Amino acid sequence: MQQNSIQRILVCGAGTMGSGIAETAARAGFETILYDPAAAALTRAKEAITSNLTQLVSKEKITVEEKTATLARLQFHNQIEACKADLVIEAIVEKTDVKQALFAQLAALNGPHTILASNTSSLSLTEIAADVDHKERVCGLHFFNPAQVMKLVELVYTPWTSETVLQSATEVVERMGKTAVVCKDAPGFIVNRVARHFYLEPLRIAALGTMDYALLDQVMENAGFRMGPFKLMDLIGNDINLAVTKSLYEAFGKPERFRPSPLQEEKVAKGTLGRKTGEGYFTY
Ligand SMILES: NC(=O)c1ccc[n+]([C@@H]2O[C@H](COP(=O)([O-])OP(=O)(O)OC[C@H]3O[C@@H](n4cnc5c(N)ncnc54)[C@H](O)[C@@H]3O)[C@@H](O)[C@H]2O)c1
Repeated sequence: MQQNSIQRILVCGAGTMGSGIAETAARAGFETILYDPAAAALTRAKEAITSNLTQLVSKEKITVEEKTATLARLQFHNQIEACKADLVIEAIVEKTDVKQALFAQLAALNGPHTILASNTSSLSLTEIAADVDHKERVCGLHFFNPAQVMKLVELVYTPWTSETVLQSATEVVERMGKTAVVCKDAPGFIVNRVARHFYLEPLRIAALGTMDYALLDQVMENAGFRMGPFKLMDLIGNDINLAVTKSLYEAFGKPERFRPSPLQEEKVAKGTLGRKTGEGYFTY
């Protein structure tokens, strides 16, 4: 992989994260493809990106010309055959086997120099990379939600990730106006491991029935956090948040401190996943 050779970025998965990452990539000047087999997800992502850019124009953060140029750099596809790029950022469902299957397809469609990055929140990158052809090109690029706003990106390496890949990925992140923190593959990396307690402890308090979600959020916001834990879980998606908790719980040998909350399990079983379904801990 030559440095500065990344021109085209493919984002897989047009959900909460993929949409924001694609917007960020296109704004940074990369030719960007957003791929999702679900056409409805692509339509929603296109609407969300257009609306975000329109808001930036009205706040005079970008010009109308920049909005038009950003949209012109974006393509939306629901066919896997279109998935060819210099860098892939995968942001699909948080399941190792599904990510492995997609990486195998992407490796077959792309040359050996295409970097394959995953936005996984907590899964083992090493496991995802294990069977990929040329596994030195696999790394984690863990963006935070909303991806078009948050500045931090965890750049995760496996035992095989090459220095050149890390350098190219760092350059891409910097060109997006963000900061890359390089970290070793480990359960939850850094932020999600620490942040688990920001979700799980309030869930334990809520389960006692003495304080409701809104009050707990209010307390934490008054304590200086920008967003309370329940609003944040609804923004993240309760399915994703539970998957991350379960993944850390398993990876650390089921310690009490990472035990998933029955309240989370209930939300997911009912399909009340947060903002993306219109209902979670709160109604939208
Ligand atoms: N939600 C967050 O706050 C957050 C933050 C950081 C990282 N992540 C990670 O990003 C990834 C995506 O999370 P999300 O919240 O955007 O999920 P989401 O549920 O909002 O969207 C997932 C999208 O992936 C698509 N998809 C499913 N299988 C696919 C496949 N095989 N190929 C292509 N597309 C497929 C779905 O149609 C859906 O549109 C997960 O790995 C998650 O852990 C999420």
